[in-house]
Amino acid sequence: MKQSDPHILVIFGASGDLTKRKLIPALYEMHTQQLLPEKLAVLGVSRTELTDFGFREMVKEFLSVQPQNQEDIESFLEHLYYQPLLTSDSSEYPILKSRLEELCNELAIPENFIYYLSTPPNLYQVIPQSLAEVGLNDSTNGFKRLIIEKPFGTDLASAKSLNKNLLNYFNENQLYRIDHYLGKETVQNMLVTRFSNGIFEPIWNHNFIHHIEITSAETLGIEDRGGYYDHSGALRDMVQNHLLQLVGLIAMEPPVVVEADAIRNEVLKVFQSLRPISQEKVAQHVIRGQYSQSHIGKELVKAYRDETGVDPLSRTETFLAIKFFIDNFRWAGVPFYIRTGKKLPARVAEVVIHFKTTPHHLFGDQPDSGTLNNQLVLRIQPDEGILLKIGMKIPGAGFRVQTVNLDFHYNELSDVYLPSAYGRLLLDCMQGDATLYARGDAVEKAWEYIQPILNAWQNNPDIPIFSYPAGTWGPEVVDQLMEDGMWRYPCKNLAHDGEYCEL
Ligand code: BG6
Repeated sequence: MKQSDPHILVIFGASGDLTKRKLIPALYEMHTQQLLPEKLAVLGVSRTELTDFGFREMVKEFLSVQPQNQEDIESFLEHLYYQPLLTSDSSEYPILKSRLEELCNELAIPENFIYYLSTPPNLYQVIPQSLAEVGLNDSTNGFKRLIIEKPFGTDLASAKSLNKNLLNYFNENQLYRIDHYLGKETVQNMLVTRFSNGIFEPIWNHNFIHHIEITSAETLGIEDRGGYYDHSGALRDMVQNHLLQLVGLIAMEPPVVVEADAIRNEVLKVFQSLRPISQEKVAQHVIRGQYSQSHIGKELVKAYRDETGVDPLSRTETFLAIKFFIDNFRWAGVPFYIRTGKKLPARVAEVVIHFKTTPHHLFGDQPDSGTLNNQLVLRIQPDEGILLKIGMKIPGAGFRVQTVNLDFHYNELSDVYLPSAYGRLLLDCMQGDATLYARGDAVEKAWEYIQPILNAWQNNPDIPIFSYPAGTWGPEVVDQLMEDGMWRYPCKNLAHDGEYCEL
């Protein structure tokens, strides 16, 4: 594997939750897998007053929650440094600049810097600007890359203004907008499944595909993120970014090469072809729901409106299902469905391709007699793998057909190391590869598609929000969205489905 160039990774928001839960574990994992460059400094930056030693101790504590090899931890900690800084105050950035110069000299690292904004979005304006004011965006003597976390805006106007602001100080090719879904191995495998197998691509179109179903279900609720989530909701939190990016990979045309712009151009074209949902049609195409109090097993689960940080009269959706079309040659007339929600019965993300039935039903019309839709399930998590459902003859007299599973589970490749999504994406950024990062124009296009839905909800309070008991598959009306077919009720195990699963 290509080695990353020596560099300093500056984490803004180093004492925050994301750094603790995702970035540090990902970096540590990369360290144990020897994926980090030998010359690497990770400089934590935040308001909290800490020394290098104090930061290392804090990180040691995060890491020691899981049993780890102490030698690995100690050698990892040697990469870590810390700089207290009031990041919202431009006048403090010369301090950061001198600290970076000092580290470059001390560790003989060239001026290659990656800035990771693991901060609240209200700092996305001031940090890039302040870095630029002291010349820390200048690539003359080494690369300067900026990673930012979602939300990339909260609506179309704010997304445009964020992009505009970022582009005042950094070029698009220096910007890495992280969407951790794209870092998932199984999401990347969509491209390999489609474009490395001769059998799928010829039938990957409206001639053979009846509809496509995308599910991202979570058993968790909003945990302690009520304050954020109540202003976001499932449409902004999951659909605008992760799930539309998935649609991009499922629906795109083959890229000419596997390179950042070639792939991202194709994703953009998919977003350009999404048939807009007019405000009048929102109620018909988009079902929103919110979980209500219920018993899951013996536990009494509280309603969303009773969660901390949530307005007791909140109309924020914790569930969303949407039916949409992609108006281009490949997908004309094929309905796509997305379903996502919190407090559903299983934690599952998957894409199901439902193929059309045979043109003539030779074996009769009974459900077990040959009119089945073949299904290809691309499982993102858990039990990552691929499942193909096909018809087989039931042994014995006559020609009765039953559905059987052909399944592959990633865990069968036990000797293969599956990097975490954050690990994979960080490594790509270290190597200057933005393929799996969202590009500004695609982010704006996705918002353009979502905006009429937000407007309709805001302008028309009569559009209902349905409740669903926590622990169920969302509001009952969601079945009406899929006129000609049925949602799959996925289970933890890829090959199982149905409403009654092992949890
Ligand atoms: C995040 C959302 O981006 O993705 C969360 O903000 C959600 O609300 C999470 O829980 C889902 O990611 P994953 O990897 O757990 O499926």
